[in-house]
Amino acid sequence: MEKNSLNIGLIGLGTVGLGVVDCLVKNREIITLRAGREIKISAICAKRKNKKRDFDLSNYRWVQDPLTIASDDDIDVVVELIGGENEPAKSIIERSLLNKKHVVTANKALIAHNGHYLALLAEEQKLSLNFEAAVAGGIPILKILKESLCGNKVSRVYGVINGTCNYILTQMENEEEDFSKVFKQAQNLGYVEKDPSLDVGGIDSAHKISILASLAFGTRIDFDNVVIKGIESISLVDIRNAKSMGYRIKLMGLAQRAKKGIIQEVEPCLVPKESLFGKLNGGTNLVMVEGDFADKTHYIGPGAGAGPTASSVISDLIDIARGNIVPAFGQNAHLLEIPQHTSEDLLSSFYLRFLLTDKPGTLAQLAGILGKNKISINRMRQLQHQDENAPVLIVTHPINKTLLKSALEEISKLEICKSEPVYIKIEDL
Ligand code: HSE
Repeated sequence: MEKNSLNIGLIGLGTVGLGVVDCLVKNREIITLRAGREIKISAICAKRKNKKRDFDLSNYRWVQDPLTIASDDDIDVVVELIGGENEPAKSIIERSLLNKKHVVTANKALIAHNGHYLALLAEEQKLSLNFEAAVAGGIPILKILKESLCGNKVSRVYGVINGTCNYILTQMENEEEDFSKVFKQAQNLGYVEKDPSLDVGGIDSAHKISILASLAFGTRIDFDNVVIKGIESISLVDIRNAKSMGYRIKLMGLAQRAKKGIIQEVEPCLVPKESLFGKLNGGTNLVMVEGDFADKTHYIGPGAGAGPTASSVISDLIDIARGNIVPAFGQNAHLLEIPQHTSEDLLSSFYLRFLLTDKPGTLAQLAGILGKNKISINRMRQLQHQDENAPVLIVTHPINKTLLKSALEEISKLEICKSEPVYIKIEDL
């Protein structure tokens, strides 16, 4: 290899790995010009060499054991694209850094769990640990936070950061189908992660929001304190009701500064149909960052797929080739604050759905418990009856979620309550 090139060891040849090879080959000239030197694949490693692939591997050096890439003298950067929060990804990155190799990864789970430790290691070695592809696929949101908006004090970041959930919710609405049917379709199309709870259980969004929170607030990554609610319990009836009230349901990730500490949440929310978030369809991601000087800025684009994710990996590589070494979380990792976990509740309006017995005094009982918990009703509707029972919809004024939960627990135990009450936050974005 010529001396001046940046030599990479590519581990993982799935969708993203193949996208990276494709981009390096097709855009070789512009990448070389912009990087100031050639970015060359020195070695490739994947589980199965003989798997049928659409490109010719014979031009590349093949390495069977990923850990040997971490100590290969010819390699400057290890590109880890196998994923997973555990082994071998963790050891590959750890050993690569200890062996003085820069690291580029798309591994959101690993960064969410071990990001602080790995960032410390990278900094001690004066190396880059870049993971642009870990959040929102082709949207360069980490670079925005680390570089473009770095003069701002960020108060809030929120977004739709899981394309699979957005696809499922969009299809449920468009096709008038329930969750289980659309979920199966999404699985057949290959949109759902191997462990589906990562997507529909909100964990993938939580990995991503914890990364965004750390970059936004200068705090150590704190995945364990993300409050997570997924989309499995969202029913078609709630999607229809939301629509009739001028809303759509989206799985939102939110990170916000509170009076003391930070709040990190992932949960389905009603958002106004006409808002940027309300207009979001399919697998597209959208992220909003609120800074004290830039104010609110929005970033939209494909959240997954070979091309968009490869685009982010290549940008990380070009930064390294240029010598643009930015700390993994935008500042010295030793100086990242330990975030204070807060139970402080942000006040929000909620959509509530009950199935109640249609008898005198039922609503009085319901309203009594809500009132006792300081929950004020903004709008209310009783829908077409189901047998003896009446479906009741309520939109509250901004209220405290802890009080709401205790009110709903009390209501769910009453005779009048015929199914588990449903509550969904309303974000009037
Ligand atoms: N499962 C993820 C998504 C892939 O649907 O957004 C990209 O991180």
